[in-house]
Amino acid sequence: MKKYEKVFQKDYETWYGENEAYRKQVAEDPDRLAFHLMPETGWMNDPNGFSVYKGQIHLFYQYHPYSNVWGPMHWGHQVSEDMISWKQYPTALAPDMEYDEEGCFSGSAVMTNLGHVLFYTGVSKDKNGGCNLQNQCMAVGDGVGYKKLKNNPVLTGAVMPEGFSHIDFRDPKVWEEDGIYYMLTCSRDAQNKGMIALFSNSEIYQYLEKTELTEQETEAFEKAAGCWKYGGVFAEHMERLGSVWECPDYFRLDGKDVLLFSPPDVQAQGNELHNGNNAIYVVGTYDHAKKQFQMGQPHTLDKGLDFYASQTTELPDGRRILIAWMQSWHNSFIPDGQEWQGMMTIPRELYLSDGRIIQKPVKELEQYRVRPVSYSNEKVEGGQNFDGIEGRTLDMTVTIKSGEFQEFYIDVAKDAEHYTRITYNRRKREIEVDRTFAGMNRDVACIRRAEVESESEQITLRFILDRNSVELFVNDGELSMSTAIYTPQTADGISFFCDGNAIIDIKKFDIEIPMNR
Ligand code: FRU
Repeated sequence: MKKYEKVFQKDYETWYGENEAYRKQVAEDPDRLAFHLMPETGWMNDPNGFSVYKGQIHLFYQYHPYSNVWGPMHWGHQVSEDMISWKQYPTALAPDMEYDEEGCFSGSAVMTNLGHVLFYTGVSKDKNGGCNLQNQCMAVGDGVGYKKLKNNPVLTGAVMPEGFSHIDFRDPKVWEEDGIYYMLTCSRDAQNKGMIALFSNSEIYQYLEKTELTEQETEAFEKAAGCWKYGGVFAEHMERLGSVWECPDYFRLDGKDVLLFSPPDVQAQGNELHNGNNAIYVVGTYDHAKKQFQMGQPHTLDKGLDFYASQTTELPDGRRILIAWMQSWHNSFIPDGQEWQGMMTIPRELYLSDGRIIQKPVKELEQYRVRPVSYSNEKVEGGQNFDGIEGRTLDMTVTIKSGEFQEFYIDVAKDAEHYTRITYNRRKREIEVDRTFAGMNRDVACIRRAEVESESEQITLRFILDRNSVELFVNDGELSMSTAIYTPQTADGISFFCDGNAIIDIKKFDIEIPMNR
């Protein structure tokens, strides 16, 4: 298989056209996931521009098509009706201008009458030989093709107070409220502390409201696009929480204000925060007059080994949907010969209960369930298997209803050599995910633990397995743990073990997407 690591990003379209056979070959890799969004070839990280435009759900993503490692970022683009089966669209942005030659970094999208508007970070070389600079840019499109504004970058770090970082100034999250567009970006203050800065633009609304612009209006729009004002520090935390608050997202959920961000360089705290890159949510209050977010307690969104840079969008039916990069910056593994890297989580519906976020796989997944197998009131004592409970692309709920035991575990993706073990410790009320024997031959972190907060005796464990991913939803989404594994597809066993006795129900479906991805 030919490798394409040294291709000029300006030639992306030529490369794409010339490499149809290569793309087909990568598409046939049996380790590719069946029903999660993945890159066609090459590397993918953060979800970007998650949005609904003209009735379809769009997801862009950080993308380096030419190799399976990070490189100058493009925005890949896929479109879906149901967030489970995705269609590949042309790459929306490539780093082909001086102001984004080092990469088109993460950002968001809004639907307007004028078109689908993308906000992203253009990374450019510092002319004085310093670190690369990060500025905010815009592109407008029709859901398929996107045109960068002539006036890019539309917002530079120059509008921020002195000492704020222009090097870590990225990931614009934009929304409109009463005719004003607001933008959040990450930055660092003069004390070098990560925080989220707010900007506003009251000039562009009048143009984005129109379906077409005359030549003169286009010029005025370009000018207005550059009129972002600094509006203060939107959110910060008394204590240091990582180094940069990457990928901010802000939205209303069940009557409350929620802020998401993903900080690197965090130090572990109990089972709540782990070392390195964490994905955080805070339920707080947005003070509209002061334009500040009053922070509540930060919590981790997902306690598995692979989850970062989450984004949300609101569907026309009012559901708030979250998706995240199901990989980690420092903890991942690229199997030899694999020509792609990176996958998204299953999209999740968000709800709020007692101030905590609840995540459930989108209900659209259920329409792809086939071949149900169920067991009820089975007694597990020691090790046990169940006929028909196996597979690598499935949706399985195990309910532990009662029993006398300390540890109950379930091994998935199992054969004589491999397994990924999910253990419920009843005394500690703790879940542990352990992929030590999943098939990696590199020294990456393999274990993560999380508390089960609800007090009830019964516990439900819903597993979404898709070839090399294991997503666990505990008690209807009160806790989620997402983890990548790297196990041969022939390891499709599932087994149960209880060190005392337990009464369980199992309900399992295979997931089948009747289309060629
Ligand atoms: C988060 C991140 C973003 C940045 C992007 C670059 O994973 O570091 O802050 O925009 O990735 O690919």
